[in-house]
Amino acid sequence: MRILTIETTCDETAAAVVTDRLEVLSSVVASQDALHERFGGVVPEIASRAHVERILPVIDEALRKANCTLDDLHAIAVANTPGLTGSLLVGLTAAKTLAAAKELPLIAVNHLQAHIYACRFAPHKVPFAVRDVFPCVGLIVSGGHSNLYRCAGPIDFAPLGGTIDDAAGEAFDKVASLLGLPYPGGPAIEQAAASGNRDAIRFPRPLLNDPTRLDFSFSGLKTAVRYLVAGPGKLERRGVRSREQEVVPLPRSSLPAPYSIADVAASFQEAVIDCLIGKSELALERTGYRTLCVGGGVAANRRFRARLEQSAAAKGLELRIPPLSLCTDNAVMGAIAVERLRAGKIEDLSLDVLPGPERAAQA
Ligand code: KG4
Ligand code: ZN
Repeated sequence: MRILTIETTCDETAAAVVTDRLEVLSSVVASQDALHERFGGVVPEIASRAHVERILPVIDEALRKANCTLDDLHAIAVANTPGLTGSLLVGLTAAKTLAAAKELPLIAVNHLQAHIYACRFAPHKVPFAVRDVFPCVGLIVSGGHSNLYRCAGPIDFAPLGGTIDDAAGEAFDKVASLLGLPYPGGPAIEQAAASGNRDAIRFPRPLLNDPTRLDFSFSGLKTAVRYLVAGPGKLERRGVRSREQEVVPLPRSSLPAPYSIADVAASFQEAVIDCLIGKSELALERTGYRTLCVGGGVAANRRFRARLEQSAAAKGLELRIPPLSLCTDNAVMGAIAVERLRAGKIEDLSLDVLPGPERAAQA
């Protein structure tokens, strides 16, 4: 059985063809990073217009690479929650049209659950080996979300906690912008951090020492970086322009000696990682589960992956992280549709987008 999966929740236009045995027949991702870079973040209107231009070529390419046509498909799956409304609508409209025209079952994919489901694909193997991961604690760390879930089964997720302000990836993007590093900020910070001293600056680890909460808070950490590089007050006065304007590199000289951008990046990255790992360990303790699955763009961070491995080894836990290509947004993770199809969860053409994470958690 072949399923076409479509992903347009944010700024990647992606399509894949997967089978009900989780074989990946094709995966195509058209990134929009170059379009959003000069704004230092995703501009929703630009994202949805770019999806409109790319969606059909991306689907065509996915079918071509899978060596099949629309007539060879058995179902159409689409991520309809959470995400940017305009972006979600493009993928959903394409999926509904194909499902209606070809009289195929339409399957709704929850993008956050899909990020965790990506952990079923083992790294370092092409074609991907498939492994069991449930039950597990699911940690999603992306540009829009930092959530912990109790994942009893592939489509049985209960929220345990999440960020009360910025998402982890968003903090990476904003701090990169403060440091004059390019968008997306995560890879740029990771690269800068590689030559920095992670103990140079002791940034705060908000909520880390509160054992009663499984939540994250990254906004204060971001502000601590801002104060360090520009001092309190308006950034414009210090020569760094606001995010709405063009982002200009921060002069190295504006950092108080003896810190470098690399030191700030490394110290910031370590603070975020400490928070993510501390709360994941607490979630594992609370649930009694022995497996941690980590998904989302920030899971591509090599220092984070190494620290997660250390933590798992020290506590005797199983760690599951997707291959690098399946950490950031992609359509292969939409293979979770196989589980919904098995559970008889098929949608009709009244299926709508659910942009917000609160409603998405119940989807
Ligand atoms: O999951 P994703 O591709 O899209 C969303 O659903 O948001 O995640 C994108 C986020 C961005 O904030 C990006 O800066 C971050 O993931 N990211 C990273 C790395 N690669 C991507 N953060 C830290 N280190 C990385 N290597
Ligand atoms: Zn994502």
